[in-house]
Amino acid sequence: MDFDDLINKLDLPTKIRLLTGADMWSLPAIPEIGLDRLVMSDGPIGVRGEQWSAVDPSIALPSPTALAATWDVDLVKRVGRLLAQEARRKGVHVLLAPTINLHRTPLGGRHFECFSEDPFLTGEVGAAYVEGVQEGGVGTTPKHFVANDFETDRFTVNVQVTEKVLREVYLRPFERVVGAGAWGLMTAYNAVNGTTMTEHSDLVNGVLKDEWGFDGYVVSDWTAVRSTEPAALGGTDVAMPGPHGPWGDKLEEAVREGRVPESVVDDKVRRILRLAHRVGALGGASRTAADQEQIDGVALAREVAARGFTLVRNEGGILPLENVSTLALVGSAADEARIMGGGSAQVFPDRVVSPLQGLRERDGVEVRYALGTDPRVRLSPLTIPTRAYFMDADGDVLAEERLATTEARWIGQLPDGVDQDRLAFVELRATYTPDLSGEHVFSVAGVGAFKVTVDGRTVLEETVSLDGEDPAAAFLAPPERRVAVELRAGTPVEVTVRHPSGALKGFGLIAFTLGHANPSPGQDELIAEAVRVAEASDVAVVVASTTLEVESEGFDRKDLKLPGRQDELIAAVAAANPRTIVVVNAGSPVEMPWLESVAAVLLTWFPGQEAGGALADVLFGDAEPGGRLPTTWPRRLEDAPVVNVTPADGAVPYSEGDRIGYRGWTAEPAFWFGHGLGYTTWSYDSIAAEDRSVSVQVTNTGGRRGREVVQVYVNGALAGFDVVEADPGQSVVTTVFLPERAFQEWTADGWQAVPGPHTVEAGRSYADRSLSATL
Ligand code: BGC
Repeated sequence: MDFDDLINKLDLPTKIRLLTGADMWSLPAIPEIGLDRLVMSDGPIGVRGEQWSAVDPSIALPSPTALAATWDVDLVKRVGRLLAQEARRKGVHVLLAPTINLHRTPLGGRHFECFSEDPFLTGEVGAAYVEGVQEGGVGTTPKHFVANDFETDRFTVNVQVTEKVLREVYLRPFERVVGAGAWGLMTAYNAVNGTTMTEHSDLVNGVLKDEWGFDGYVVSDWTAVRSTEPAALGGTDVAMPGPHGPWGDKLEEAVREGRVPESVVDDKVRRILRLAHRVGALGGASRTAADQEQIDGVALAREVAARGFTLVRNEGGILPLENVSTLALVGSAADEARIMGGGSAQVFPDRVVSPLQGLRERDGVEVRYALGTDPRVRLSPLTIPTRAYFMDADGDVLAEERLATTEARWIGQLPDGVDQDRLAFVELRATYTPDLSGEHVFSVAGVGAFKVTVDGRTVLEETVSLDGEDPAAAFLAPPERRVAVELRAGTPVEVTVRHPSGALKGFGLIAFTLGHANPSPGQDELIAEAVRVAEASDVAVVVASTTLEVESEGFDRKDLKLPGRQDELIAAVAAANPRTIVVVNAGSPVEMPWLESVAAVLLTWFPGQEAGGALADVLFGDAEPGGRLPTTWPRRLEDAPVVNVTPADGAVPYSEGDRIGYRGWTAEPAFWFGHGLGYTTWSYDSIAAEDRSVSVQVTNTGGRRGREVVQVYVNGALAGFDVVEADPGQSVVTTVFLPERAFQEWTADGWQAVPGPHTVEAGRSYADRSLSATL
């Protein structure tokens, strides 16, 4: 297609209009050249679509740490194809994913949303994701370019990093996904070496576009473009969201006055048209995927979850469970699974299978549930039919929407018929019938004014303001207010929350939650009850989790402790039943002070909507836990190589250089990168290396068919891997090709070969490299 021909048909204002969002999620249509509206959506665990709410549900897959834990690029590609299918179903052209920043430190708030501490594994998994989605005719924007590896002061922080470390570590996954043909890329909020990334001409024009030959479009992170000329000249092609922003008329003026050459604008337009052509939004071109197989999202979500589950400890082979007739299931996350992390990665599935439900669906075992302790800081919404009314100042209803829970969330798009200027109130109404008599607690979490009534009586009325400066905190970390109300079991009550809307009107953002908690006998009694149930059962499974207040976009973690009294609960249950299995439901590492006192530990990450089914599959051995750690798991936070995420004078120096992850560990961690047990055993028999190819033979020495992740390290760094399967007694040989970069380093003269000899090792983890050869 001749894009220049089309560009020549457009006047300057039209071209410039195309460079800023028409709204929160799309670029404007230009019918005169056959360009449709181009719709973007988060990513990465599903396709949320243009609504930030449950009205338009999505399949919710396991989070990126779980995906990386599979080490399986074919599976990741299949995930990508499912995401493309979801995107097409929802009219989305570009998925704002994958997140390929690195696990520089376990404190990173979006750790769960990134793949790994290792640049090579991140690049391979990221490339498979990009290929899978794009094969389905949908674009991707690997993000956030670059060095957005923590959240504190993310809009302004200046990351100080040497060129060598940037090239060898942080840019490497980006180089890989560009090589895989990504159609887009997202520039980060932060600055690198003094220049904010949306204006970073050296990295965006220089490295990305010129040196790597990237021909896709560069979209800013949301609101990250904060200037006219520097951002326009700095290589960012699209400023999101819109329609307001620092480009528009100001950019037009800059072009007319010769401060920004028109050719720069044309290049941006060309990139957008190329994208539109690729995703079938130009000239009536249809998308490539019409003839593709239909993927069953629910089945895939369950399969991927089990494949990512990482069994790090299994004393006496307690797993898979056999001859178990009574199972004590303990923990708040067993009933309300934490299936995803917080922030823009949030999607709304139309069902969630909790561990409790998944295990109860199994025949032949009696599941006895005990809460144990509730670590949640904010109360959860009620899952009951709820109506949301959008009203004007006279109380006339502008729109009405049905919700499945008492969580109100519209971001970027309000329901049809709601004129932001007329909107005065949003009101939620729901009928709640308690199961228990006693003191129930209701809460509102959000920013602004709230009035809560129960059966017409006002129980809470307050105006809550926002701490700090990040406007996203209004929905990422909202303040909460609570009130206790006496209710009788079986007697329904009408609960309403009225919220004058307007706090962030320009963005169309309404976000608040009516929370609820049942009467509680108190934390000590809850733990005692869990101990009694565990004692009386054949086996105890404790599901421990982080909370929304711990793992989310918008802030970093303060420590790696399991929140609340969960450590105490686990220790007490383990003391009562030696057959205690701990399921860690967290997107990133937590300290496990009770590790040696429990029989097994299974990391399930944020497992997505089919969490409970996958857990039952793995605990009872229908599926083997397929995961291997994509990140080294600390015993204690202070042992981790990097714990600094707090800017001093606006800067965070990456002074550790390339010593992140396993390359930086000096203490003994709880578990090394690459570690993970299956349900069979393997011997590593032989290795042969020639040129850049390595062949490794392994044998399944256990009693059942299994899957193994064969890992190859060059000079101590991961350089290749493959997933193999074998029956008992069977040997398999895998041949892995090593990338050129594994034998190179960045110097003042660019990439140069490191002189040999090179040590090539193969094994089950970073710590278990039992085979070795020299190249
Ligand atoms: C996040 C991006 C996301 C965007 C749109 C930003 O706050 O950093 O990852 O794609 O919002 O939701």
